[in-house]
Amino acid sequence: MNHPRKKLIAGNWKLNGSLAANDALVRALLAGMGQPTCDVAVCVPSPYLAQLQSLVQGGALLLGAQDVSQHLSGAYTGEVSADMLRELGVRYAIVGHSERRQYHGETDAVVSNKAQRALAAGITPIVCVGETLAERDAGETEHVVKRQLAAVIHTNGHCISEIVVAYEPVWAIGTGKTASPEQAQQVHALLRAQLRAASPQAERIAILYGGSMNAGNAAALLAQPDIDGGLIGGASLKAADFLSIIAAAA
Ligand code: PGA
Repeated sequence: MNHPRKKLIAGNWKLNGSLAANDALVRALLAGMGQPTCDVAVCVPSPYLAQLQSLVQGGALLLGAQDVSQHLSGAYTGEVSADMLRELGVRYAIVGHSERRQYHGETDAVVSNKAQRALAAGITPIVCVGETLAERDAGETEHVVKRQLAAVIHTNGHCISEIVVAYEPVWAIGTGKTASPEQAQQVHALLRAQLRAASPQAERIAILYGGSMNAGNAAALLAQPDIDGGLIGGASLKAADFLSIIAAAA
């Protein structure tokens, strides 16, 4: 299929890392990936952004954050703003990851505001959507992912072509259970149709798959017409595995 989208492979380190481990991992990635034909990013814990900024300088690895505040500035203890992230060279920010929705009570409205803050600061939000196992079993997958994406479209209007979407079925995250390429493509096609209805530039929007993507299953997932990359948790912490996924996207 001909389309203008460049693939994006983004690692989500979650609550993992140390100065020493990050150094070793990033050096191995930079040495192993050369000049990839896809975009490659790592979304790291905020305290490590400055370390990563100097490690990746001039290299092909782009910097991402795992969250961003919905507020600009002020009395919001513990929050990190989009402008602060931008100062550290951050290009991507994950918003609405299911772990944030589940453990931190983030609503569709909060996620949409976060996406808006990121966009205003020149950061690409990676907007996560996905259904739980109970929702899938109840036949609600389409309803859930469309509701989550609709909120972001509603809030971000004409900027919507600047976002990245990540379809992450909650039942596949960290479980070793991956959506089959066909299952994932089916949802990606629904999301693409929703984006087309919202923007004449929808073909530009990358829709990533996330949920136990690994070196073994990446190629088949990435071969689907509407799967434009991956958001990778566990397998992004091992250089060899992450490099294999990058190679599969090239
Ligand atoms: P996983 O996580 O690859 O470990 O399943 C993906 C994610 O949560 O972004």
